[in-house]
Parts: sequence; structure tokens; C-alpha cells
Amino acid sequence: MKSVLLMYISFCLIAFLNLRVQKSKSESIKNGAELYKDFCYRCHGFNGEGQTDLIPPLKSSDYLLNNIDLSIAGLKYGLKGEIVVNGKSYNSYMAYQGLDNDEIADIMNYILNEWGNNSEEFVTFERVDKIKKSILK
Ligand code: HEC
Repeated sequence: MKSVLLMYISFCLIAFLNLRVQKSKSESIKNGAELYKDFCYRCHGFNGEGQTDLIPPLKSSDYLLNNIDLSIAGLKYGLKGEIVVNGKSYNSYMAYQGLDNDEIADIMNYILNEWGNNSEEFVTFERVDKIKKSILK
């Protein structure tokens, strides 16, 4: 009986600690908003609008919204070569911005849910961690 009780207590403790570690979606978005100001807005703009023919938009970007894993890979390893965003071709280069996987998850959750973007996906650290460079052409 004692050991059953002990098992139950440790189960509750593990469940509780897990809940603490996993950020909620709104916490992740809030953190991502801060990171966006430091690392992204100078190129992609305060409103995610991009710049001229050189830097693609994030607001309503079909590339971002339909290729979440590729977008994560771009942030993890840098993005180079031709991509098409909302029917317009870009052939430029985005360097790796020095963010860790947890920060990339937060920024992804922010850009997927800002400026009218509305994604049901919740990007976790684990998802970012699993993505390999080889998915980029
Ligand atoms: C120095 C300018 C620069 C900075 C800073 C920068 N990017 Fe980019 N980003 C680009 C360029 C240029 C491309 C297109 C690359 C290509 O043509 O292959 C791009 C492409 C992208 C794409 C895929 C295309 C799209 O528009 O959906 C995403 C997503 C993205 N960037 C997100 C971010 C995020 C998030 C940050 C901040 C962590 C960031 N970028 C910082 C220049 C930048």
C-alpha cells in the first residue's frame, strides 16, 4: 500500500513539473514578440510587410503558413536561393540569426499568429530540435 501511494505521489510530481516546463502558447507568443523586435523587424518590418523586392513579407505569407518546417529550418540553418512568397520570387539570403531552438519556437509562434496570421499549430522546442538541415534544398 505504501509503495502504491509513493508511486502516485511521484506520478503527480512528474506531471506537475512537466506542466511547469511546457510553456503555454500565449507565453511563447509573448516571448516571441520581444525576440522579433531584436532579431527580425529590421528586415521583415514592424508589420511583417518585408521590404521592396529584397525581403519577403511574413504577414499573410503562404510560404510561412504552408511550410512551417521549412521556415523553422531557415531560421535554424539560414535560408538561401530562390523561394516564392505569395506568387513573387525572391532569390536572396537570410543568415542564421544565432537563436537557440527554444527561441526559434517562440518566434515561430509569434509570426504565425500576428498581423492577421492565424495558425492552429503550436511550435514546440521538440519540433524545432528534430528538424534537419537536409529538408532545405
Ligand atoms: C538581414 C535581413 C533579415 C533578417 C534580420 C531576418 N530575415 Fe528572414 N528573410 C530574409 C530574406 C532575404 C529572406 C529570403 C531568403 C531567400 O530568398 O532565400 C528571408 C526569409 C524568411 C522566411 C521565409 C519566407 C517568408 O517570407 O515567409 C521567414 C519565415 C523568415 N525569413 C523569418 C524571419 C524571422 C522570424 C527573423 C528573425 C529571427 C528573420 N527572418 C530575420 C531576411 C532577413
